[in-house]
Amino acid sequence: MAPELLYGGDYNPEQFSREVWVEDVRLMKVARVNTVTVGVFSWSSLEPSEGVFTFGWLDDVLDLLHENGIGVILATPTASPPPWFSLAHPEALPITADGVRLLHGSRDTYNPAAEAYRHAARRIATELGRRYGTHPSLRMWHVHNEYGTVSFGPVVDAEFRLWLERKYGSLSALNEVWNTTFWSQRYGEWAEIFAPQATQYLGNPAQLLDFRRFAAELLLAAFNEQSEILKSLSTGIPVTTNFMLPSWLHYDQWAFAAAEDMVSIDDYPSEPGVEGHAQAAFSGDLARSLAGNRPWLLMEQATNLVYRRDAMLVRSTQEMVRSSLQYIARGSLGALFFQWRAPRTGAELFHSSMVPHSGEDTDQFRGTVHLGALLAELSELAPGSRQAEPVAENRVAILWYPEAWWAAEARGLPRADLNYLSLVRQVHRALWLAGVGVDFVHPDHELSGYDVLLLPLAIPLSTAQAEAFEDYVGAGGVLVAWYFSGTTDDNFSVAPGGYGGQLARVLGIRVQMVHPVDNALELSDGSTATRWSEHLDLRGAEAVGHYRGGALDGQPAVTRHQFGGGVAHYLSTHLDDDALRRNLVSILDQAGIQGLAGDGLEVIERRVGDGHFTIVLNHTDAPGVVTVRGDDLITGQSYAGPTEIAAGAYLIVRT
Ligand code: GAL
Repeated sequence: MAPELLYGGDYNPEQFSREVWVEDVRLMKVARVNTVTVGVFSWSSLEPSEGVFTFGWLDDVLDLLHENGIGVILATPTASPPPWFSLAHPEALPITADGVRLLHGSRDTYNPAAEAYRHAARRIATELGRRYGTHPSLRMWHVHNEYGTVSFGPVVDAEFRLWLERKYGSLSALNEVWNTTFWSQRYGEWAEIFAPQATQYLGNPAQLLDFRRFAAELLLAAFNEQSEILKSLSTGIPVTTNFMLPSWLHYDQWAFAAAEDMVSIDDYPSEPGVEGHAQAAFSGDLARSLAGNRPWLLMEQATNLVYRRDAMLVRSTQEMVRSSLQYIARGSLGALFFQWRAPRTGAELFHSSMVPHSGEDTDQFRGTVHLGALLAELSELAPGSRQAEPVAENRVAILWYPEAWWAAEARGLPRADLNYLSLVRQVHRALWLAGVGVDFVHPDHELSGYDVLLLPLAIPLSTAQAEAFEDYVGAGGVLVAWYFSGTTDDNFSVAPGGYGGQLARVLGIRVQMVHPVDNALELSDGSTATRWSEHLDLRGAEAVGHYRGGALDGQPAVTRHQFGGGVAHYLSTHLDDDALRRNLVSILDQAGIQGLAGDGLEVIERRVGDGHFTIVLNHTDAPGVVTVRGDDLITGQSYAGPTEIAAGAYLIVRT
């Protein structure tokens, strides 16, 4: 069969009668749905009491889908253990950092460290693997849903101690690294150590960082054991688990991605208009990077109403279509949604869906049909057997790693609102608005393929990582580091030589002191900034911008250091959006990198095997002009120069 883009969503037939299933399949065919994700929260329907399995309904669903040419991504339902499980195994319920045991009543009520939970999860995964591992409808295994549960309490404490013993070998090593003499925390027995729960005042940040690592590894171990079971019971079926992007920090996305056959994400941009598309671009770039620049899958997005803070965000069909194209242009195998049919009731009863409560004769369902018809015409963008080939060719990368996020969340920092995610998003957004394609990269990965590396708020860096940045710049790379980066080693110990000590050599500066500020700051080039400033000494770097006014009047604020064959820049303050964009564009310009279009007129170059495609998306409400050469994938029309794209429209061109 020729490859096609995947189209469909989470399908929960267990909530509906068999008559509705027949109607579902009819509507799926109308909408050209070819893939549905089944079973994500079906545990209590599949195992209504311990060890008693009721697979009959799922057999029928999978057969029905298969007869109608619809492929299945089959989930293990382990994100929501049934009530009987929680009653029988209270020790497997999660406990918050405040010591509150959460009871059954929602989802994700499990403790990933509890053996009873892990055992029950392995058992249901085994049963599913045995029964459906060779079912002809099966396209992919979807383990769990959005790993992210962190628990505390005795079961976790015991596991954490074992993890620490493995890491440190001896208590004296742990005491040394955590500097437990501070506030008399010196440990004489492993049993004295607890996971960092609610305590009197500030906790130990090194302990916190280790706990984050431990908790992330625990989730990965839970994934791995299910993945191994499913692989042993099927042949050639890829295994994935869906990441909730971008705001979930409980796991190490890179480590998960390396363990998966297919990276998949859920993404729910929360802002209207161009800002929402900047958010989708962020998640799509992150997913492609996590996937090693290979195809990945958008497992969930919302149709026309997106859950968020106070009021749901309404998005038009045009916006839904353009978002879907943003992900596909970045390597997604297709566009899947949460969810196919709106539930009658249940926790998320007003969540949007491909088939809304008001049924078939609605603009929402017509939008579902419209997108399905469009994706069917874009099958050239489906990688098929070319999934091993790279998707993009970006020269700029942003450093993204969990320790940086975890460190910025610690208490006791010079500012409580050092927000890693929002700074990384600010940097990505500035580049996206400037039309520059970017990847994300982990500090331990190969860096030499990039011309420019951006390090926002990279507080903890190991010595090996710092040396890798020196080698990178020494060999001709351009590095831009933000304030407070490199201030500690990877165990949260302040590096020698002042703040930023791990990067001091490559940046050619020394940070004497940090100056968090409440007022706005001004720099000599007219840039405005907020929140943060630093008293810098130049140790080889030159100042390219100074603070103007205030405590640091006339002191360097932005520096540049020629180091070996490359250049290292430092931004010691939190630049406002416009100033940040100006600074980055100028640095990229010096490196010979220019953006394509921008300001919401998005141009994405996509490779699929030997094919090259240009995807132009106009997210603005004004027409835009872009230079394109090639043939329109839908109309066949040829373009050979400046081409107007109407407000809200798109072009997909084979170049
Ligand atoms: C996702 C989740 C779905 C559904 C959706 C609502 O994070 O995987 O099950 O809850 O959010 O937007």
